[in-house]
Amino acid sequence: MNIQALLSDKVSQAMVAAGAPADCEPQVRQSAKVQFGDYQANGVMSVAKSLGKPPRQVAESVIANLDLTGIASKVEIAGPGFINIFLDPQFLAKNVDAAVASERAGVNTVAPQTIVVDYSAPNVAKEMHVGHIRSTIIGDAAVRTLEFLGHNVIRANHVGDWGTQFGMLIAYLEKQQQENAGAMALADLEEFYRAAKKHYDEDEAFAERARGYVVKLQGGDEYCREMWRKLVDITMAQNQKTYDRLNVTLTRDDVMGESLYNPMLPGIVADLKEKGLAVESEGATVVFLDEFKNKDGEPMGVIIQKKDGGYLYTTTDIACAKYRYENLHADRVLYFIDSRQHQHLMQAWTIVRKAGYVPDAVTLEHQMFGMMLGKDGKPFKTRSGGTVKLTDLLDEAMERARNLVTAKNPDMPADELEALANAVGIGAVKYADLSKSRTTDYIFDWDNMLAFEGNTAPYMQYAYTRVLSVFRKADIDEAELLKAPVVITEDREAQLAARLLQFEETLNVVARDGTPHVMCSYLYDVAGLFSGFYEHCPILTADSEQARNSRLKLALLTAKTLKLGLDTLGIATVERM
Ligand code: ARG
Repeated sequence: MNIQALLSDKVSQAMVAAGAPADCEPQVRQSAKVQFGDYQANGVMSVAKSLGKPPRQVAESVIANLDLTGIASKVEIAGPGFINIFLDPQFLAKNVDAAVASERAGVNTVAPQTIVVDYSAPNVAKEMHVGHIRSTIIGDAAVRTLEFLGHNVIRANHVGDWGTQFGMLIAYLEKQQQENAGAMALADLEEFYRAAKKHYDEDEAFAERARGYVVKLQGGDEYCREMWRKLVDITMAQNQKTYDRLNVTLTRDDVMGESLYNPMLPGIVADLKEKGLAVESEGATVVFLDEFKNKDGEPMGVIIQKKDGGYLYTTTDIACAKYRYENLHADRVLYFIDSRQHQHLMQAWTIVRKAGYVPDAVTLEHQMFGMMLGKDGKPFKTRSGGTVKLTDLLDEAMERARNLVTAKNPDMPADELEALANAVGIGAVKYADLSKSRTTDYIFDWDNMLAFEGNTAPYMQYAYTRVLSVFRKADIDEAELLKAPVVITEDREAQLAARLLQFEETLNVVARDGTPHVMCSYLYDVAGLFSGFYEHCPILTADSEQARNSRLKLALLTAKTLKLGLDTLGIATVERM
């Protein structure tokens, strides 16, 4: 059910009948305040301007042509020419009936697009740190939402698995294997990388060997390829544990690392040269872009191949965008990468468009996000100033959640407690990130995210269990209940119903903008409306059986919506807490 789309359709027909051009925008929005009705159509203003008529007069003739029989109970003009639409309680009731009977809470599937989502993207032989957490969590919520709507989603984990550092990593892995007789000493990736770098900087023979391995690896040497694969495998096996803990849908099959594009790079450089886009400059191959200026105000030079023949991060992203269009047949490509890489992406894509590698109809979208900050407003660090490892962070989340839920549920069996602590702890970390507008930096604060009040995971999870408890007490047969009709008589019933029926609209916004916080706010709002409804409209002690059943159905749709909504965010729910 998409009421906004339905009303947009009706209002634009009425606008055309009132003299507006066929492509007029009805601008139908959800109203911000109850006194403005459920929806507002704001498109009259700009149409009146182009028709040269007073807006209220145009609004009147739009209303005269607007047929909302069976949909709205009242339509009125407000302010300079806004149209306020009040939905008919019978229309709401009918649609709640349909939604509650459907597995998808009445959400339609879309005409599917192929959408590539680039997210997570950790680096090989490096620990995943908090910098990767936002990409992983927000990207996965976007993926789940797009899939729920029916799109064909391709997860692309653009792992940093290529580059000159692999010579040194191979040389060090070799050394480790010799010294530890094959025992794997890559458990601490960060330490491994540091030690490899130290040898490289201090031991000339080691460095010599490392440089040799880079060349051999590039040339496809069997031994080096095998050592490289080991490094990738060990890193990704560790990352997989984190994905599983985080309830993130990425698997090993989703890895499309930088190495995948490496064989394409010479062809890209040659082609860009041939197209006259790339030129030789001081030994390197460079694309000069008018769209970007350097500090002297001249077109910025983007290096795509270094003097020594090496390629760059940008060259890889050019090939990667091309590949996603040509080989994966993407209609849209979403990149969940932090905002510091914005200029990099814009340069790569400007080149991609100029070279005609990806047509304009296929969008390349940087769904950027800010940094994760500590309570002091500075980049999130450990007490000693190091970067916080994701695994340590999740361990702490678990421990805090365990203490919290144990205190609240002293009699709960141990295994249920552990499952609850997991849902709450991991949920809290994820939800804290998801619920903030992603474009800004965000402050990581344990106390806020684990609070049982406010827009937090524990609150939402608890709200869900409260709705379920109504059913436990009612002790009814769901199939029987579905046969009883919803009847809406109270304002609070109407408000809850209208909001529940906006689930699809919310999903569409998240799918379009990559903004899971819109879903969080929506679910929080639903939970709040349900509380008010529950307090003022007795369910189990309703005056009539009809009212009781109708209210139980509203509660059932609330439960479904919360569950499905939290699923799209990757937040686990529990039955009781
Ligand atoms: N591995 C990179 C990093 O850790 C992120 C890669 C993002 N994706 C891309 N197509 N550039 O910063």
